[in-house]
Amino acid sequence: MQIAKKKHEAEMKVDVVIGTRPEAIKMAPVILELRARGGFSVRVIATGQHAEMLNQALNYFSLTADVNLGIMRREQTLDYIASAVLQGVGGTLDADRPDVVLVHGDTTTTLSAAMAAFYRRIPVGHVEAGLRSHDMSSPFPEEMNRVLTDRIASLWFAPTELARRNLVSEGVPADEIRVTGNTVVDALHRTIKCVSAPKESCMSQLLHGVPFILLTAHRRESWGVPLERICEALLEILRQHGAYRALVPMHKNPVVRDTISRILGKAPGVILCDPLDYPDFVWAINSCKLILSDSGGVQEEATALRKPVLILRDVTERPEAIEHGSGVLVGADKSLIMAEADRLLSDPAAYAEIVARCDGNPFGDGTASAKIADALSGVHKLAI
Ligand code: UD1
Ligand code: UDP
Repeated sequence: MQIAKKKHEAEMKVDVVIGTRPEAIKMAPVILELRARGGFSVRVIATGQHAEMLNQALNYFSLTADVNLGIMRREQTLDYIASAVLQGVGGTLDADRPDVVLVHGDTTTTLSAAMAAFYRRIPVGHVEAGLRSHDMSSPFPEEMNRVLTDRIASLWFAPTELARRNLVSEGVPADEIRVTGNTVVDALHRTIKCVSAPKESCMSQLLHGVPFILLTAHRRESWGVPLERICEALLEILRQHGAYRALVPMHKNPVVRDTISRILGKAPGVILCDPLDYPDFVWAINSCKLILSDSGGVQEEATALRKPVLILRDVTERPEAIEHGSGVLVGADKSLIMAEADRLLSDPAAYAEIVARCDGNPFGDGTASAKIADALSGVHKLAI
């Protein structure tokens, strides 16, 4: 599909569609970069798949959605999100047709927005293209969302060389893929410069070098028994390592919060809180001793900051984190989580050695959004 810009138009009209917290954090640097350059007219379309969590992320970057479809419902189903996004984004594209639609990653917003654009023959650019776990059931439904989005896309912004290879092996022409690095590194670099101390009051307990573990979990595969095991493992780790505390910013999903609050709610040393503002969360990653997480973005941020992260999944689409040395795949296996945490927390020399081995950042150097803007400018000039 061609990006066919009309000769008389001075600017390329770019619609950026975002729905969840990570899409906002990872697309904010792209939106800011495109707006800072001439030649683009950028409209931010929020589906509102996430409500408070999306706004929290956008606020930090001083961004406001130009359109917010506000679709979120409590305990929403995939069917509901998919159809509401398809209809809502479709209507928005009909009202004011852009030259290109940019989507990010692998959420239901991502795939449905890409479909809405495709149905109107509007080209789709996929940021964070090519990630693959090679297991359609994990993460679910994200692996299928990314595969289908890449099938729909006409512009592929792959964060790593491995992601590029994944796309080529699926038939995407090699010379049409741009390897940019991950835009989360751009967001992180921008943020870490300004982070000195957290502003969330519950985090004052962690100041002055108090050692702590950071836990986040929200994936569908973790719901129920796996999440219970993860929480129980954390309790055991805290029992064995009495000097440590745990910071647990809970995702807004009630399914996740119910389990976490039930098991960790009254546990000594555990600080449960609402989702943190991005700078506070970055402070936490940078200041903690160890991270336990099933998040995609947190694997990348931990790697960027050379922080050990126990990946609470059976498989990851970000094996670069493991090759780098920061990531260890532990799933929701209670004994494995405890053993790996004990290995890292008991022996300072071994810990230091692991951190020292984590060299460079496979996820990029903070210039991904500039590369994406360059690529779009190239398309712009070519089309004119
Ligand atoms: C979604 C994405 C997942 C991504 C994650 C990032 C899909 C299928 N899942 O999962 O890929 O990793 O976002 O966090 O696209 N809620 C609120 N307020 C909010 C956000 C969520 O109350 O600001 C609650 C609502 O009850 C909502 C529920 O969380 O129904 C689940 O949200 P949903 O977007 O469906 O799933 P996530 O688990 O957040
Ligand atoms: N994050 C945040 N506050 C929190 C927890 C996470 O700002 O309390 C950020 C984190 O830094 C990362 C992103 O949210 O950039 C990850 O989002 P999430 O884990 O919800 O989704 P995933 O990356 O797994 O899709």
